[in-house]
Amino acid sequence: MYEIVHKSDLAHNIKLFKVYAPDIAKKAKPGQFVIVRNNEQGERIPLTIADYDRHKGTITIIFQEVGKSTIDMGKFEPGDKFLDFVGPLGKPSEIGKYGKIVCVGGGIGVAPIHPILRALYEKENYIISILGARNSDLLIWEEKIKAFSHETYLMTDDGSYGEKGLVTDALAKIISQQDIDMVLAIGPLAMMQAVSEVTRLKQIKTLVSLNPIMLDGTGMCGACRVKIGNENKFACVDGPEFDGHLVEWENAKQRAKMFKEQEGLALNYKNN
Ligand code: FAD
Ligand code: FES
Ligand code: MG
Repeated sequence: MYEIVHKSDLAHNIKLFKVYAPDIAKKAKPGQFVIVRNNEQGERIPLTIADYDRHKGTITIIFQEVGKSTIDMGKFEPGDKFLDFVGPLGKPSEIGKYGKIVCVGGGIGVAPIHPILRALYEKENYIISILGARNSDLLIWEEKIKAFSHETYLMTDDGSYGEKGLVTDALAKIISQQDIDMVLAIGPLAMMQAVSEVTRLKQIKTLVSLNPIMLDGTGMCGACRVKIGNENKFACVDGPEFDGHLVEWENAKQRAKMFKEQEGLALNYKNN
């Protein structure tokens, strides 16, 4: 159980695993995530379900090596097993027929947007996807996204691939030219905030998938508390998708940095 049956490198520091977890593969829905643990000493790592194969019983996860736990996880090879692999967690995305939808994926956010975009496409929505990355080496899953999009725009910060600029440049242009019914954005907090600001003026419904620090993933510990309008919500059970126009972004950014010092110490400890 929880054996890695496939591993590949998608980009610099970005890896894909297919993990044998038939119970989770049976139930997984777009927008949900798992929480994994590498070993007895390991911390809990939330990761979005980027894809699932109910027939083969596998879950696909895509992760960026950003600190101790994800760097350790990147050393796993096919045949290795996770100690824990818990899920599916979180509320699934609401897959309805909305009309014209812009799906914005930034960096590693392209992976979690994939199953949602595919389900929305299969519901006969018109899908416009915008993928963004710092440079061409970090742009992932272009073909998989294009397969379920009617239009695709590729943006890189340095212009090394697609168009030079930010995803919000492409988004602003699209909403000035077309009537858009909904926008879905997944990526770094600053990107999702910027997307929400662009759509606010026209009051276009905007969903974002928040990734605050999570521990238990069951609504008990409070680690993932986010402020949505005047309410406190727990992203692990009430989300991770929320209305981008209601998110208190500064609070979310502050909380994401809460353990920077300890995270740095953990990384250095490992390297010594
Ligand atoms: P650290 O050095 O410990 O932390 C680096 C940064 O990662 C921190 O500053 C913090 O912002 C964030 N982080 C650290 N611990 C946690 C934690 N327990 N929960 C959430 N964020 C944390 N990353 C991916 O690469 N691919 C995904 O598909 C993906 N999906 C996610 C889905 C959800 C619902 C959430 C909440 C997070 C997701 N993340 C994903 C982020 C991923 O969990 C963190 O990058 C990872 O936990 C960092 O661990 P670390 O020890 O390697 O880095
Ligand atoms: Fe503990 Fe959400 S992770 S309440
Ligand atoms: Mg960590």
